[in-house]
Amino acid sequence: MGERRSSTRMLGAILLLPLSSVAGEYHYQSTLVCSECHSPEAARGPGGPSALLASIAPPADSTLRDSLDAARSAVGPLKSEDTNELCLSCHDGQAAAPDVLGGHAGRYVRQAGALTTGSAPYEDWKGHTLGVAAVPPGGHAPMTLTCTSCHAPHGNAGYRNLGRDDEQPPPVSYARGTNDLTKDVFLRAGAPGGLGASYGVQGVDFNEPVPGHAAMDVFCASCHSAFYGPDGDPRMGGTDGTRWFLHPTSAADIGAQQSGGLHSSLSAFAANPYRLKVTSPAGEWGIQGMPWAGVAGLSASCVTCHKAHGNQNRSALIALSGQGPPTEDGDAAGARMGPMALCMQCHPVN
Ligand code: HEC
Ligand code: HEC
Ligand code: HEC
Ligand code: HEC
Ligand code: HEC
Ligand code: HEC
Repeated sequence: MGERRSSTRMLGAILLLPLSSVAGEYHYQSTLVCSECHSPEAARGPGGPSALLASIAPPADSTLRDSLDAARSAVGPLKSEDTNELCLSCHDGQAAAPDVLGGHAGRYVRQAGALTTGSAPYEDWKGHTLGVAAVPPGGHAPMTLTCTSCHAPHGNAGYRNLGRDDEQPPPVSYARGTNDLTKDVFLRAGAPGGLGASYGVQGVDFNEPVPGHAAMDVFCASCHSAFYGPDGDPRMGGTDGTRWFLHPTSAADIGAQQSGGLHSSLSAFAANPYRLKVTSPAGEWGIQGMPWAGVAGLSASCVTCHKAHGNQNRSALIALSGQGPPTEDGDAAGARMGPMALCMQCHPVN
């Protein structure tokens, strides 16, 4: 009896305690609050919640599995059977959680931008569209995107819970507060703060722990496989730093070809006061708003040119000319010139 009561009390702690979160890290371990998505009071459905648990590989740190196991009989069905509806009940137009769909209720410039709504200014051709069957450009199989196509609902140790529940190693790793050049992403916010500090463009930068290989690009390529490859890949071209068939990402460094012409220029890129987000093996990006001298090894990545969720431009391109502070769509000059303003940050017209 005593044992039963203490395990009930433990469940109560897992299900009900308002657990404090660390900014920019949520739905994982101590911040995985079952009752946010499941109805703990509801009766267990036929078959039980077995499938997902079986599919979760035992993690090195077994906290996730333990908590799922401990609460599985009490956790109940999801609050909505439609995953997108479930996630959007908090992630659209609410003050407490980052808003990810269409227009922004918050005041910060979202790093991932906006998932499409189907109506102007967020038509479906301006980014990722939930709930519609489509073949990813550069991919093979048709799929219907949900939030959990890209984010693990029960979290993992990686950046934004990208990938599957407790995926080891996570597809994209991160460090918070103090940069770690062995991690893929540097989140500047070290302590809990407003959503803007955790999810705004000024709070996120990208390292390149393995030169020539950026984790975010590999993640995007898990669906858009034909759009990514190393230098010399038959799809990509390159090999001598030139004759690319597809635009290189981490396969080429900005300004590595010194000959001008079509090639990229490090000094031109760095001289832009407001630079696109590139990967940096040195963990240096300059100070936004100020021209910079640059550092060797910088590369473009998929999210240098595209917002991961979307924005108000076709193909979610970031029309940032580099002269004005960034909006989710680019800047004022970019709005006049169109999305190709971004090309000129690295390829100046001489
Ligand atoms: C009950 C409200 C609620 C629901 C439902 C919800 N979220 Fe969240 N989510 C939050 C809050 C609050 C935060 C941010 C906390 C913070 O950083 O202060 C968050 C943060 C996130 C983050 C950023 C995490 C990180 O580590 O950077 C992702 C990704 C995310 N949610 C995805 C989802 C997905 C996918 C679903 C649906 C399966 C979902 N959320 C459902 C409230 C919710
Ligand atoms: C952010 C939303 C969210 C939170 C919080 C959450 N879950 Fe889930 N859970 C889901 C989603 C979505 C699914 C459906 C499977 C999927 O999409 O991967 C699911 C599925 C499950 C399943 C499998 C159900 C079945 O029949 O397949 C179990 C068990 C489960 N969750 C347990 C938990 C426990 C225990 C907690 C708290 C420690 C928790 N979940 C917290 C979103 C969430
Ligand atoms: C889980 C699979 C998946 C992942 C991962 C993924 N995408 Fe997509 N992407 C799709 C699908 C499916 C479409 C076509 C349907 C649509 O527009 O949403 C698409 C469409 C696009 C489009 C065209 C959008 C439009 O409206 O024309 C761009 C650009 C894009 N993805 C970029 C990216 C980038 C950049 C990443 C990584 C940050 C990424 N994708 C990761 C599945 C994926
Ligand atoms: C095609 C893949 C994909 C889909 C679908 C997707 N996301 Fe994301 N999401 C990402 C990526 C990649 C990032 C990180 C982008 C970056 O840092 O540039 C991100 C970032 C986020 C963030 C951090 C906020 C921000 O602006 O950076 C939250 C919260 C989030 N996603 C929640 C969701 C929710 C909720 C859904 C469904 C309504 C969803 N995502 C659908 C790929 C996706
Ligand atoms: C140097 C900038 C740049 C980089 C880096 C970049 N893209 Fe693009 N991408 C573009 C442009 C420009 C287009 C064409 C947009 C248009 O005309 O609508 C495009 C189009 C796309 C499309 C839509 C294609 C279609 O048929 O609708 C997808 C998907 C895409 N890119 C994915 C990626 C992925 C994945 C990566 C990383 C491996 C990536 N991009 C890197 C600039 C870039
Ligand atoms: C963040 C920097 C960056 C941005 C932005 C960028 N590029 Fe590039 N681009 C590079 C790098 C690096 C290379 C490969 C090395 C080189 O040629 O300098 C390259 C190569 C190219 C090449 C191949 C040149 C050759 O010799 O084979 C073309 C064409 C090109 N870019 C066009 C574009 C277009 C169009 C855009 C805008 C959609 C764009 N680039 C945006 C950095 C960038």
